[in-house]
Amino acid sequence: MKKRILSGVQPSGNLHLGNYLGMIKNHIAMQNEYDCFIFIADLHALTTVRDAKKLHELSMELAMDYLALGLDPEKTIFFRQSDIADHSELAWIFNCITPMGLLERAHAYKDAVVKGIKDQTAGLFTYPVLMAADILMYQPDIVPVGKDQKQHIEIARDIAIKFNDTFGETFKLPEPYIPQEVATIIGTDGEHKMSKSYGNVIEIFADEAKLKKQVMGIKTDSTPVEEPKDPEKSAIYKLYYHFASSKEQQAFAAAFKKGGMGYGEAKKILLEKLLDYFADARKKRIELQKDLSYVISVLKQGAEKAQKEATKMMAQVRIKTGLSLKN
Ligand code: TRP
Repeated sequence: MKKRILSGVQPSGNLHLGNYLGMIKNHIAMQNEYDCFIFIADLHALTTVRDAKKLHELSMELAMDYLALGLDPEKTIFFRQSDIADHSELAWIFNCITPMGLLERAHAYKDAVVKGIKDQTAGLFTYPVLMAADILMYQPDIVPVGKDQKQHIEIARDIAIKFNDTFGETFKLPEPYIPQEVATIIGTDGEHKMSKSYGNVIEIFADEAKLKKQVMGIKTDSTPVEEPKDPEKSAIYKLYYHFASSKEQQAFAAAFKKGGMGYGEAKKILLEKLLDYFADARKKRIELQKDLSYVISVLKQGAEKAQKEATKMMAQVRIKTGLSLKN
């Protein structure tokens, strides 16, 4: 039997290369080998988005991003978290067995406290509990996530253990999977991880003018054109590397080392590469935008398939906890 993977993605708008290389590319590559569940974590997004139109838009955009980039709804069960009400129910049940201390140690919450975020909600605090429900509901073998989510998977394991100890063996312990080679994608400032909060992103589906502006805006030092440059120190090369063939990588690195290739020229090569690499996806994304009813139908069908699995699991959970009429 195929191993099962499951992952959720919070919709945050304007997909960038860091999102793609960090996670989405992997999710899509895995759909041939694994039994895949990918969902749009809109309930998690509700911890920060307080605008109905915006949240709906963000979810639809993420759905279009995935479909444009090659997610095949025949292979992957692709759905919106909020369409499966059982996630929220299971999260409540988990809330009732999750020690406060476990959540107090969670990075996401601790960071919010350190940053002095005023709007500290119970939702933010129990964020990892909902995530545990998302995961354990579907019994995945592997949960592919970014480095920043590793602790949340550990919390999900702790909650599974606690539930199993309390009510009897029910949940399988998931393994996190963190693709090493793409753990951190450098932003256009050449310094920080690519992230919207640093304003150092290159957006995959931006129009050509904006994409060009972002690529041309990559920060460089003042080494003159004719002088040799170290490719390993250049954000241009580091980004190019992920999209080029090994032959292209070598040629680019050699041109940098030899001297004579300036940063402007290097950026143009990167831009061309990106436009070429994402040509089909960019075209498809525009088509999807014109056919939202198709996108909605994909999500509905995905939800139907996910619901079948969730219903099975919740029946067991209700029996184990005494919430079933048939105990
Ligand atoms: N918290 C995850 C993130 O921000 C998204 C997410 C929600 C998730 N539920 C999940 C990821 C379950 C993996 C499994 O990236």
